[in-house]
Amino acid sequence: MTTTGWQQAAERDLMSLGGRLANLERGDGSHVWDVDGRQYLDFLGGIAVNCLGHAHPVFVDAVASQAARLAHVSNFFTSPPQLELAARLKRLSGAGEEGRVFLANSGGEANETAIKLARLHGRTTGARTILCLNGAFHGRSTGALALTPKAAYQDPFAPLMPGVQPIDPTLDALEAAFAVGDVAAMFVEPIQGEAGVVELPEGFLARARELTARHGALLILDEVQTGSGRTGEWFAFQHEDIVPDAITVAKGIAAGFPLGALITFGAASELFSPGTHNSTFGGNPLASATANAVLGHIEQEDLLANVRERGAELRERVADLPLVAETRGAGLLIGVVLDRPVAADVVAEALSRGLIVNAPAPDVVRLAPAYTIGDDEIQEFIDLFGQALSATASRENVETPE
Ligand SMILES: Cc1ncc(COP(=O)(O)O)c(C=O)c1O
Repeated sequence: MTTTGWQQAAERDLMSLGGRLANLERGDGSHVWDVDGRQYLDFLGGIAVNCLGHAHPVFVDAVASQAARLAHVSNFFTSPPQLELAARLKRLSGAGEEGRVFLANSGGEANETAIKLARLHGRTTGARTILCLNGAFHGRSTGALALTPKAAYQDPFAPLMPGVQPIDPTLDALEAAFAVGDVAAMFVEPIQGEAGVVELPEGFLARARELTARHGALLILDEVQTGSGRTGEWFAFQHEDIVPDAITVAKGIAAGFPLGALITFGAASELFSPGTHNSTFGGNPLASATANAVLGHIEQEDLLANVRERGAELRERVADLPLVAETRGAGLLIGVVLDRPVAADVVAEALSRGLIVNAPAPDVVRLAPAYTIGDDEIQEFIDLFGQALSATASRENVETPE
């Protein structure tokens, strides 16, 4: 590819961290366009963020009208949008009367807050260990990174926060960890998105809930990727019969406006006290009003039903395409598992045909489209993705299934 002006500018001015696939300047619904006018079908949705697609009128109106009214105030004050959002998140999560909400700017910041919650809880019980799962991704800030046991991410930044114990996501490892004891809290993603849309073993969350409760430890669910309706319920834990002590949310919560949240349930709501935590931008009126409009629209239009139906339809149709071994995930968080580790090639073939998806694992392509997708978007996706898979298969000289 020839180096165009924008690539030179990116090279010269941006920190060297990747992210130069295209220079996108405009979006509408499930499509985005680059500076050269090239159209892409966006089935990654800013990695599970753009749940209403791009430039949705509800999003645009919310940002514009709140910006014209009151964008930001210091955290010495609250605001009507912030109060409305906190009450809404308590209702949607089932945190109820006792629940409390802290508003932040990102998933990483929500998880940092949850780590502090775990530490505060550990002070009351004397336990010092935070359990996390191998394969987990909780963010790039140093605390969240300590809970993200991947050498390539962690090693350059060692030493990281102490007191973290990663375990395998198996029932045996779970039992063994609690047999050792000293557990203040356990962090779990209901579906490990960055690991390749990997589901937990059957019964894992329920057993984690039993063991954390029995040992006086907090069960903290990272719903940054799975929350805000992505899996077809407001939060992924609601597919199961459990109540966590806390969840963290971000990504889709405001459909592209930066916002994160920690929602606590029951006694965990009493751990923070004035002066122990805060955030300058977290939950300002602009971000909160946008989240209210987005979540209100999802509720009003029953988009969760569309997430469930379209997710099932996509998985059924993708299963017939070349190279596809199986699909994983829930709702519109889908991992397409290939029969060989060529996901990066498929993603590149897709991009060259104007389709945006990504490869969180060598054999997995992740889909996280908007909750608003319909027949047209699905057909366009199947056509483009099918072509990308066929091209990869023929280049690899792989036999395609009949
Ligand atoms: C499960 C999970 N937790 C935390 C994060 C970090 O969120 P952010 O990038 O907003 O800090 C991510 C981001 O991909 C995530 O998928």
